[in-house]
Amino acid sequence: MEKLFGKKNTAVFISGRGSNLRSLIKYSKTKRSLIRIVLVISDNSRARGLKYAKKNKINNIFIKYSNRRSFENRLLHLLKRNKVDIICLAGFMKILSGSFIKKFYKPILNIHPSLLPKYKGLNTHNRAIENKEKYSGATVHIVNEKLDSGKIILQKKIKILKSDSGKSLQKKVLKIEHALYPKAIVRLLTSY
Ligand code: GAR
Repeated sequence: MEKLFGKKNTAVFISGRGSNLRSLIKYSKTKRSLIRIVLVISDNSRARGLKYAKKNKINNIFIKYSNRRSFENRLLHLLKRNKVDIICLAGFMKILSGSFIKKFYKPILNIHPSLLPKYKGLNTHNRAIENKEKYSGATVHIVNEKLDSGKIILQKKIKILKSDSGKSLQKKVLKIEHALYPKAIVRLLTSY
């Protein structure tokens, strides 16, 4: 696969901590990686992930989000210039428009901290606990114009313990996210 098609140029969009970005960078450095991270974009100038990208000598850019149209136009320009084949949203907290998705016309993945279709949006862990769910988990899915609703590529489930708080659950789910995202990328790229 890798020999036939080469590594896919990947852009990672972040808004904050960037622990999923870290796991993607780690994966991209493995021998069998199917991706090369060529661009990291953040809508938050103070995102910790930007520093990590810089440390790893990956082109990293902050784009101020003043309005969606100008933000997305700048994104499209950068994606084209860097010949990006796939976008991975990793804790990116802005919603991309249907028009952007159409114009990019290549896969956009997102990782979400719940077992979609349950608990779209924010505050997933507290809501799962309040509703006395037995399980939580993480989902990697294709991004479409509806929030957290595109085709599911891969999901991983974990048990919610009676002793779990929103915070402890968030920690556990984040840990499984780090393993899940690279696996989902492999699944996507080997399923053509
Ligand atoms: C992750 O838990 C990710 O699933 C979530 O934000 C966190 C980012 O952490 N994303 C969403 O909630 C998107 N709807 P990170 O910055 O350490 O990767």
